[in-house]
Amino acid sequence: MRSAPLKIGSLEVWPPLVLAPMSGVTNRTMRALYRPFGLGLTVTEFVSSNALKYGSRRTMEMIDQHGLEKPVSTQLWGDDPQTMAHAARVVRECGADIVDINFGCPAPKVTKTNGGSACLRDPDRCEAIMRAVVAAVDCPVTMKMRLGWSEETLVYIDVARRAQNAGVAAVTLHARTARQFYKGDADWEHIARLKRAIDIPVIGNGDLDDAHVAMRRMRESGADAIMLGRATLGNPWLIAQIRDLMEGRPARPTPPAAQRLRFAVVHYRTMVDELGEARAVPQMRKHLALYLKGIPGAAVLRERIMRIDSAAEALGVIEETIASLEAPAVAA
Ligand SMILES: Cc1cc2nc3c(=O)[nH]c(=O)nc-3n(C[C@H](O)[C@H](O)[C@H](O)COP(=O)(O)O)c2cc1C
Repeated sequence: MRSAPLKIGSLEVWPPLVLAPMSGVTNRTMRALYRPFGLGLTVTEFVSSNALKYGSRRTMEMIDQHGLEKPVSTQLWGDDPQTMAHAARVVRECGADIVDINFGCPAPKVTKTNGGSACLRDPDRCEAIMRAVVAAVDCPVTMKMRLGWSEETLVYIDVARRAQNAGVAAVTLHARTARQFYKGDADWEHIARLKRAIDIPVIGNGDLDDAHVAMRRMRESGADAIMLGRATLGNPWLIAQIRDLMEGRPARPTPPAAQRLRFAVVHYRTMVDELGEARAVPQMRKHLALYLKGIPGAAVLRERIMRIDSAAEALGVIEETIASLEAPAVAA
């Protein structure tokens, strides 16, 4: 059976499949490369609302959404309602279709200034931020959060109800506490509880790494959409498989290793073209390591790639690997 589209305010998102914001990873090049696999919505890396007061070149690059496939959501973090409202107006002017508020980041560099998941320690502040951002822009505002700061303070239902009352159009829940970071498992029972508690759409997130399991989680929790993060890295075919199931078709198989690496080459070349070699090479090390997953000799290849500083050399290693994967087996 075909899944229903995700409605975010007046926007209709099809398929209800969202690429998670990932700082240092989901830049515009990466989003544009992964979107055609079947994503309905992509989200930028989080952007500091404070940094937007100064508008450095790198920050402006992060929020420039012109000329991209639509819709795209720009994510902001910060603890001050007025600064967040100002930042929301700026990103809207720079082409965001949706403004997303980050109440989920557990990284100390963010929480030490009361941003990200630290906001969940003060639901009144969360509400003030959401009200200020909703009032500042003429596009839908969404919010992404964790369950709470700690196991003892699971505030997600309270904060989500405040979001709904403030005019937020959809809520994403990464079903872990901030204290958990990435430990343990995301607990999808909380996503089901959230879905029963609010009327605005719920996007479920956490640990989805298999198409059939993802669809089961979506069905069982009642989530209106699912968000995929780490498991898509080096494996965008997971996106295509979930899209197949959402369209009522059997999931396509993962392509053979050589084909996967050919896509890695396209990814590498596009990053070099758009970011320049000096920025692309270090970023592509982690991507290549993930594309190599499951390929014979991957550990040795990863080690080689980690030491390489030139795009041509790294691409040479991958081309060599493709050739060896495609070479006909020699009879003994
Ligand atoms: C490298 C990395 C960077 C991330 N950066 C962000 C971010 O900027 N904003 C955000 O809301 N979440 C961020 N997250 C969290 C993801 O969006 C997602 O909630 C989390 O990884 C759980 O989903 P997954 O199990 O599918 O990866 C990041 C996660 C990773 C691994």
